[in-house]
Amino acid sequence: MKLLVCGGAGFIGSAFIRRTLAKHPDWQINNLDKLTYAGNLDNLREVEDDPRYRFVQGDIVDSEVVLEAAQGVDAIVNFAAETHVDRSIAEPEAFLYTDIIGTHTLLEAVRELGISRMVQVSTDEVYGSIEEGSCDEAYPIAPSSPYSASKAGGDLQVMADHRTYGTPAMITRGSNTYGPHQYPEKLIPLFVTNALEGEQLPLYGDGLNVRDWLHVDDHADGIAFVLEHGEPGHAYNIGGGNERTNLEITGIILDELDLSDDIIQRVLDRPGHDRRYSLDCARLADMGWAPQVEFEQGLRQTIRWYRDNQWWWKKIKYGTEDFAEWKKRWYEERI
Ligand code: NAD
Ligand code: TYD
Repeated sequence: MKLLVCGGAGFIGSAFIRRTLAKHPDWQINNLDKLTYAGNLDNLREVEDDPRYRFVQGDIVDSEVVLEAAQGVDAIVNFAAETHVDRSIAEPEAFLYTDIIGTHTLLEAVRELGISRMVQVSTDEVYGSIEEGSCDEAYPIAPSSPYSASKAGGDLQVMADHRTYGTPAMITRGSNTYGPHQYPEKLIPLFVTNALEGEQLPLYGDGLNVRDWLHVDDHADGIAFVLEHGEPGHAYNIGGGNERTNLEITGIILDELDLSDDIIQRVLDRPGHDRRYSLDCARLADMGWAPQVEFEQGLRQTIRWYRDNQWWWKKIKYGTEDFAEWKKRWYEERI
């Protein structure tokens, strides 16, 4: 099996590459990644010299680059996206460009080259805020943010291309993911690294928004399962089954690092902030797949990984201008 992984230098894509190469000695992977602020080759150090692995720096919107990287592959798995909700509120254009047009470019390559499968990695955020109950894959799409609207646009392209051209593509909709190597703009790595540096933890609103947390290894394995066993034209929810409020997550971080809640700073809420996400994952469960990582143990191990690998996130927070610029732009006016 030869795969084209797009966006493999990011958080979940890099876990997928590391785990796939470890599990399948005879598989090969081309990794096409633009290396935006979120792309990080440090995440792939353990495979960079592996002869089964090839890195190509390029944009999924660029059809020439995509067609070259996709030559001879059996499947495409697309992780490439702009992914941070707050950045999509501040500056939405890049989200439309990568998450919609980029998905379209990959679907075109699947058709043109006759590739047998494509997995489009999407998100539970396309269903919008779920005030009660849980949503299965037939639930209406009702995105709230420019990020989730762009991801929904990608999903709709996949479904339409399958219906119109028979393109053999499917969708995964994963829930909020945590683990090592996550860019420290998202809730868990931001709060852990701030706490390790004695900084405040900027909690939005009342802190009672609920997310369903999924370990990155489980998310990568769920996507691999869909790649092997999914049916084209279908979507698959991948949830962790761990619904927690942001305040509960913050409490575990403070407890693990032995800090008091004085460092929590209540800040202005995110506009359009979804209250709750909740997935019904019966479809994958019926096919025999379930996440494995116990939540509190996984979260505490993740916190310790950031404590023990400060070189990894200090390079991001202080090695370039991006993080400082983002922090000033977004948080200064919220405090
Ligand atoms: P990430 O932000 O860590 O990484 C995204 C990667 O895509 C980076 O390596 C970046 O350089 C690359 N990229 C961005 N634009 C590109 C382009 N135009 N061409 C090529 N490469 C490009 O993202 P992540 O958290 O690993 O998320 C991966 C996927 O999973 C995304 O599609 C996201 O929507 C989805 N997802 C993420 C979560 C989560 O909690 N992190 C949850 C559900 C779904
Ligand atoms: P985030 O990690 O950005 O993921 P998403 O918005 O895609 O779910 O945020 C997770 C939750 O944490 C969300 O309810 C917003 C909240 N949050 C804060 O309270 N403060 C912050 O600084 C950030 C980044 C998020």
